[in-house]
Amino acid sequence: MKPPIDPAAVFAAGRLIALPTETVYGLAAPIDRPDLIARVFKLKGRPATNPLIVHVGSLDQARSCVREWPDLAQRLADHFWPGPLTLVLPKAVTVSDVITAGQPTVALRMPDHPVALRLLQTSPAPLVAPSANLFTRLSPTRADDVRAVFDAADVEVVDGGPCRVGIESTIIGLDPDERTVSWLRPGLISQDAIRAVLPTDWHLQSGAASSVRESGQQAPGQMREHYRPDKPLTVVVSRRSPAEIFALPDDTEPGCTILALPDDPTIAARQLYQSLRQAERAGPDQIGLVLPPEYLDDPAWEGVVNRLRKAASVWRDEARSGGG
Ligand code: TXA
Ligand code: MG
Repeated sequence: MKPPIDPAAVFAAGRLIALPTETVYGLAAPIDRPDLIARVFKLKGRPATNPLIVHVGSLDQARSCVREWPDLAQRLADHFWPGPLTLVLPKAVTVSDVITAGQPTVALRMPDHPVALRLLQTSPAPLVAPSANLFTRLSPTRADDVRAVFDAADVEVVDGGPCRVGIESTIIGLDPDERTVSWLRPGLISQDAIRAVLPTDWHLQSGAASSVRESGQQAPGQMREHYRPDKPLTVVVSRRSPAEIFALPDDTEPGCTILALPDDPTIAARQLYQSLRQAERAGPDQIGLVLPPEYLDDPAWEGVVNRLRKAASVWRDEARSGGG
């Protein structure tokens, strides 16, 4: 496929590229352009303490960014790349501390989107690409979501259509010395899917590796980079219907915009950020969502539930508090 633009020319002109991926759109700059990387942080309003994911179009590019490429990284890449899985590994000295926010590790991912892959393969270097939204705002899943936020003079938006996955990639940390895999951010690829390819001498743990926690470093994948809608979102975990829980709009009450989740977690993830955008634009000043209790323990729902927890101003669990 012919690339829609010449990435080298866009970067040479001092502009960034909004990169379509299968998860969400990213705001991209080459890893060897500190000036453009600084602009990524600045335009997003992102704190310098929050590291960026490096996107690669080949395994050679991935290997060039790490100190070592363990067998497990190869195995995971064989199974899940290109795809919505980000691997955090000890970084090569050539990867700048600005990208990794001073961490000794780098996050890597090969996106499963033909346009992204083509751009990465024709780009002079791997590309950092955080989600192309303002800090604490909704991640973009369509080109127009990016255009609504960034100036065309700053960002060349490449339209790759609506994002198929709809929520950000799963992030895991690989510690080759401890032979542990840390579960840092849930996404479409579940813990079970990762476990299914782990050799028996590796184990999966939730949260950052003990070496990271003990050193007092931040575990950035777990940073509370909260998305908060313009209008407060109340999530109620319940078997009751939305109409029983929330005041619906009528002649006397402004009521609530009810967000309905499809039964299929993959479709729910795909639609999540667009549904929240629509709810923000709708009339009422409140957004309400009812979550069936069984979703909380279902690995297939982990990514969506995680994003809803971050977005909710109020989280009420009727099942656990004894009600409903
Ligand atoms: O699906 C995705 O991952 C999208 C698309 C554009 O690829 N990108 C994305 O980037 O979600 P961003 O910057 O919005 O989220 C990256 C997350 C942050 O929570 C950051 O703290 C974490 O990755 N991260 C980056 N480098 C890390 C590292 N070395 N160790 C742990 N977490 C890291
Ligand atoms: Mg983000």
